[in-house]
Amino acid sequence: MIIFSGSSNQPLTEEIAGILKLNVSPSEVVRFADGEVRVRITDDLKDQHAVIVQSLSTPCDSNLMEICQFAHIAKREKAKKVTAVIPYLAYARQHKAHREGEAISVKLVADFLKTSGVDECILLDIHEENAVRFFKMPTVHLSASDIFAEYIDAHREDFGEDNLIIIAPDKGRRSEAENLAGDLEVGFAVIDKVRFLDRTDEIDKNELNGDVNQKEALIFDDMISTGRTAIKAAEVCLKGGAFHAYLIASHGVFSINDPSIWDKAPIEKVFVTNSINIPLNKRFPKLETVSVAPLIAKTLQNYV
Ligand code: R5P
Repeated sequence: MIIFSGSSNQPLTEEIAGILKLNVSPSEVVRFADGEVRVRITDDLKDQHAVIVQSLSTPCDSNLMEICQFAHIAKREKAKKVTAVIPYLAYARQHKAHREGEAISVKLVADFLKTSGVDECILLDIHEENAVRFFKMPTVHLSASDIFAEYIDAHREDFGEDNLIIIAPDKGRRSEAENLAGDLEVGFAVIDKVRFLDRTDEIDKNELNGDVNQKEALIFDDMISTGRTAIKAAEVCLKGGAFHAYLIASHGVFSINDPSIWDKAPIEKVFVTNSINIPLNKRFPKLETVSVAPLIAKTLQNYV
C-alpha cells in the first residue's frame, strides 16, 4: 500500500500512516494564480494499492479536482487499486433536488471520482447516508458516533452526570441522536428546523420537541458550517430550561471566518473530529478535537 496526502488534511494523513507504520509518499500539489491545481507523483505505482486521503473542505471544488488528479495519475501508472479516503465529503447536502431544477450534486461528485479512476471509497459521516448509493464502486461509510460515545462516557462528570440529553438539531439527525442516546443510555429530543430554501444558510423555524428542563443538552450534528443551526439549537434548549448546551459534530467546516462567534455563543464546548484540518486562525478556546485516524487506519488495515 502507498499512501498519499492531498493538500487539505496532511496532519490526518500523517496520523493514519503512522498507525499503519507507513510513510506518506511524496507528491507535488501546485495551485496556479487562477486557482488551477496540478498534481505530480513520481513514485512507481505499477501494481501498487494507492490510497489517497483528501477532505473536500474549503476550497471544496479545488480539493475535489486534486483527489481526482491523484486517482487519474495512479490509474494511468497502472496502480492495481485506487482507494479514496474522503473524511469530509462536500456536496452531500445536495443529495436530492430540494427544489425543481436543482442538480443532485453528490451524484456528480461520485461519478467524477469514479471516472477519474477511484476503485473504492472510504467516507465518514456523510450528510445523508442514503447518498452512498450514488457511489458506483465499493464504498465504506464510517461513523464517528462510537468515538464520541466513548469520549462522552469517559467524561460524563464534565457534562453533568445522569443529566445528559442528546439533541438532534433537525429531523434529519433523529436516528443518529437516538442511537447515540441509546449507547449512552440517556434520552433524546428533536428540534423541528426549517430552512429558507432560497437563502441556504438561514433558518426559518426552530422548535424543540422534548423536555430538556434541568438537563445538560448535547447537540449532535453531522457538521458545523456557519454555526447558525447549533447556536439556534443551543438557544432553544436553554430557553427550555437546559442547564448548559454542548455541541458535538463530526465535521468542523467553520465557514465563518470569525471564530469569536463561538466565544459569544451560549455553548460551553464544541467537539469535532479531525476530518477537516481546522486552520489556526479558525480555532477558539471552546474547541476540542477527537481523532478519526484510528478508525480510518483500522479500515485500511484490512488491506495491508
Ligand atoms: C443540515 O441539515 C446539517 O445537518 C447541519 O445542521 C448544517 O449543515 C449546519 O450548517 P450551519 O452550521 O450553517 O447551520
